[in-house]
Amino acid sequence: MKIVIVGPGAMGCLLAAFLSKIKEEVWILDYNKERAEKINKSGINLTGLSGEWTSKPKASSDIKDIGTADLLIICVKSYDTKAAITHSKALIGQNTSVLTLQNGIGNIEIISEAIGPERIIGGVTNLGATLLDVGKTKHAGKGETVIGRVDGKITVEMRSIREIFNRAGLEMRISKDIKSLLWSKLIINVGINALTAITRLKNGRLTEFEGPRKIMREAVTEAVRIAKRKKIKLIYDDPLAKVEAVCEATAENISSMLQDIERKKRTEIDFINGVIVRLGQELGIPVPVNTILMDLVKTIEASHKLKP
Ligand code: PAF
Repeated sequence: MKIVIVGPGAMGCLLAAFLSKIKEEVWILDYNKERAEKINKSGINLTGLSGEWTSKPKASSDIKDIGTADLLIICVKSYDTKAAITHSKALIGQNTSVLTLQNGIGNIEIISEAIGPERIIGGVTNLGATLLDVGKTKHAGKGETVIGRVDGKITVEMRSIREIFNRAGLEMRISKDIKSLLWSKLIINVGINALTAITRLKNGRLTEFEGPRKIMREAVTEAVRIAKRKKIKLIYDDPLAKVEAVCEATAENISSMLQDIERKKRTEIDFINGVIVRLGQELGIPVPVNTILMDLVKTIEASHKLKP
């Protein structure tokens, strides 16, 4: 199977390393030519939970080098999804599946607008990764990846993807209700990401302080209210307990949003707390805590552009 991973971030590198281990043809597509060349030459170096090892997927910024893919995995930040899918269009043929494992809500819709809904598979992953440098990633969290289609169908392509992930040592499951999974993950990100970005605490530290615990409780409650109004069933019964359990399970993780803030990069706030704020306005449900979290993260982002 020819697998093309779009985006050499933390998760893209982690997946590329594992999937190329099992001798599938794995490519990384990176719009940045210099970075693609560096990865092509030196490979991907992994540290952390799976030990230290190097793997050698191919990498290019030129879609002509790659040709039609069997599977495209979109691993860019959500605000880059539109550009990434536009850039990759020529890699998508009649039989190509497009899998998004990105955080937040909105990516399936963006990809769908560009290529139609038929080939899209959504997913959520509990894998954790921290980007250390170009092509250098720390494997920071183990856990299953669950995929599904918006129409609930389970296709032959999904079974092949599951087989390949499992063979590579990445636990994968198929679900018939991807919306419920995406929202269940969204609520975890709503409770953790902005708070870690603002406080600069690792995930595990958030629940040690009364302040963030209180804010987390309010942010999660608002998000659950929206999910209920949209008749979305969550995969756990006690959302706050689940968010706290994820904090504990990923205690040493620097959340993806805190990683962005530390690198002075744009964050995915619009696709996480921003989704709750937008839907709150649409549905007439007050969401003051998510609004404050969103405004603060956007302020930190904007402050990066200020001169010292
Ligand atoms: O975005 C992240 O960092 C992760 O989705 C999570 C679950 C919050 C763990 O760090």
